[in-house]
Amino acid sequence: MIDELAVALNTFQEDFKAALARAASDERSLEAVRLEYLGRSGKVTELRKQIGKLAPSARPAAGKHINDAVSAMETLLASAREDAESHAVQRDLERSIDVTFPAIEPELGSLHPVRHIVDDACNYFRRHGFAVVTGPEIEPDYYNFDALNIPADHPAREGFDSFWLTGTLLLRPHTSPMQIRTMQQHRPPVAIVAPGKCYRRDALDARHLFQFHQIEGLLVARGIHFGHLKGMLTGMCREIFGASQSVRFRPSYFPFTEPSAEVDTTCPKCKGSGARCGMCGGSGWIELGGAGMVHPNVLREVGYDPSVYSGWAFGFGAERLGLSRYGVDDIRRFVESDPGFLEQLQ
Ligand code: FA5
Repeated sequence: MIDELAVALNTFQEDFKAALARAASDERSLEAVRLEYLGRSGKVTELRKQIGKLAPSARPAAGKHINDAVSAMETLLASAREDAESHAVQRDLERSIDVTFPAIEPELGSLHPVRHIVDDACNYFRRHGFAVVTGPEIEPDYYNFDALNIPADHPAREGFDSFWLTGTLLLRPHTSPMQIRTMQQHRPPVAIVAPGKCYRRDALDARHLFQFHQIEGLLVARGIHFGHLKGMLTGMCREIFGASQSVRFRPSYFPFTEPSAEVDTTCPKCKGSGARCGMCGGSGWIELGGAGMVHPNVLREVGYDPSVYSGWAFGFGAERLGLSRYGVDDIRRFVESDPGFLEQLQ
């Protein structure tokens, strides 16, 4: 009988070890193994009950066997529990956040350099009492040409050749329609700047895009003369370029202004030397925009009396202002979306 107990005890211990191994390092599974084998109503109690079936002389030795086996099993269980605990701590550490770890820098966007130019120009005029207005990019030919003193057969239309959507609607080639729209809606005095996109069937090169931005300006009131125009445009160029950059006014022609001028600034590529420069064609200057005194026919078209009111208008290319301000060698860089280029101009 004592031999049978010894065999049962041996199997019991081996089963227990296998159960511990299966429970791995999981504390709940270990507790389940403890209850199954060593708990009050566990398998060890069944074994102890068998002691009563032995001869009284054999009972103390059998009891000691069982107690030794149980204490060995308890030692194994304790060490499995320790392992489980340290695994749990390890898992917690892996999960927890290291607040000293350097943060991942968020990628911040920024305004496009052309937008900076438009904002700076508009802010300059706003400070001088001008309103900022915007208008449609699709315009009838009336606003683009007829109302601006460019009748259907006028050769000046060719310079503004654009993308026609219907026989009379086109993507505006300049922001000058905003002169007409503003004067139709308001009686003088009017003082506005109108930034926005323009479109032209121009071949791409270092100075030309087919979609670009202009900033239109218009001031009409009593007693306005060319000196006011020169003063305001020189002030705007100083605002955008700083005082050291040269700006010149060159006589020119636009059907909607008389007299008219074109405004140039030092070429950003050759710095004015003109030497074999592809950007300025050797002149040392690049054109920023056109300007002049509003033509009497335009004032009449919107019902203003040219014998009472006079005014000036201008239209500058925002990308051209950007070329000069940032010393960029090719206007196409503004639309290539190259982060390496854009980051330099933030
Ligand atoms: C005009 O568009 C006139 N409406 C300007 C004006 C307004 C004159 C009010 C008088 C009174 P022009 O075609 O020259 O003018 O264009 C003006 C400016 O727009 C140019 O000097 C240039 O800076 C810019 N520009 C014109 N075409 C392009 C283009 N294809 N790509 C980039 N910029 C351009």
